[in-house]
Amino acid sequence: MTELKIKRVGIVTGGGDCPGLNAVIRAVAKAAMDWHDATVIGIEDGFEGFVEGRMHEISNKEVSGILSQGGTILGTSNKGDPFHYPEEKLDGSIQIVDESERVVRNYRRWSLDAIIAIGGDGTMHISEQLSSLGLNIVGVPKTIDNDLAGTDLTFGHDSALFVATEAIDRLHTTASSHHRIMVIEVMGRYAGWIALGAGLAGGADVILIPEIPFKWESIHKKVKERSLRGKRFSIVCVAEGAKPADGEIVVKAIDQKQTDARRLGGIGEVVANRIKEDTGLETRVTVLGHLQRGGSPTPFDRNLSTKFGFKACELASKGIFGVMVALQGNTIRYVSLKEATAKQKLVPPNCQEIQAARAVGTSFGDE
Ligand code: F6P
Repeated sequence: MTELKIKRVGIVTGGGDCPGLNAVIRAVAKAAMDWHDATVIGIEDGFEGFVEGRMHEISNKEVSGILSQGGTILGTSNKGDPFHYPEEKLDGSIQIVDESERVVRNYRRWSLDAIIAIGGDGTMHISEQLSSLGLNIVGVPKTIDNDLAGTDLTFGHDSALFVATEAIDRLHTTASSHHRIMVIEVMGRYAGWIALGAGLAGGADVILIPEIPFKWESIHKKVKERSLRGKRFSIVCVAEGAKPADGEIVVKAIDQKQTDARRLGGIGEVVANRIKEDTGLETRVTVLGHLQRGGSPTPFDRNLSTKFGFKACELASKGIFGVMVALQGNTIRYVSLKEATAKQKLVPPNCQEIQAARAVGTSFGDE
């Protein structure tokens, strides 16, 4: 039994779900209960549940057998930012109000000493603001997008890469049988980590990412060149946030209730149509969507999540708050929430992955 500084610890999962959330919940809950003799409180449906006071005590049984399960047993939401809380008025319009005081009240009502907040940049921003209101918070970096600063990796990203790479492998066989151009749109918001990682692992011929605006002629040149060389198919892996040098990001919908109101999506279709029109080559599009977020975490994500959860609990037990656990090299350390939220972690356009991809003939649509 280590030093006991936390007696009641709350866990909240915020933003979009991803594989590995349950592994973190399990690690935090088991370490808190077994090592620190603490009571663990699960906050339901993200910050929405925190504002509304929907919480319950977590039992050992509830966190048993969930290591390999996708999703989150606590539920989550990307609509409940307490500082910009969407309240629906009688006429159906949305009014944004500050409900952070309700979170502080619920924190006190449940006599919490600490909160482990598991989420992406939205959750870390909220956590930083709640920290300044006096809440003891340790963040855990989650997102398939891998766009959080301060950590080399977020958990969930590896699992998304696994799904996207398998999808590209499957597209390869049907693309080559039918001599088609296959465009696959993957998630990632404003960062190209998923498209780059899966595109490189799946041997995509063209990878389009937000960090490198593309030129239509460059994509056409690449797929036509391949056709002429007898490779009568091509795989084009497009990040949802990719955009042409002379155009804009494609926004699928605007939802004011969400922490990030812009829902991206649709660039895959635009790219496929344009390739077909300009080159005459037969083209199909696959939008991978939420398959990238569902299902079991990879072994790598299970282990990363467990290490993150253990470390978060350790920091809370030492009274170290206002921080986010972070992978740096092979070691789990921590950074301040300020550092984690200062900027988005985007793909450096000249990073080794991009250089390696270019070396094996992949186009980023910019030559
Ligand atoms: O941040 C994770 C993510 O899956 C993004 O890649 C994607 O743009 C977004 O969430 C989709 O959100 P929603 O769950 O609202 O469709």
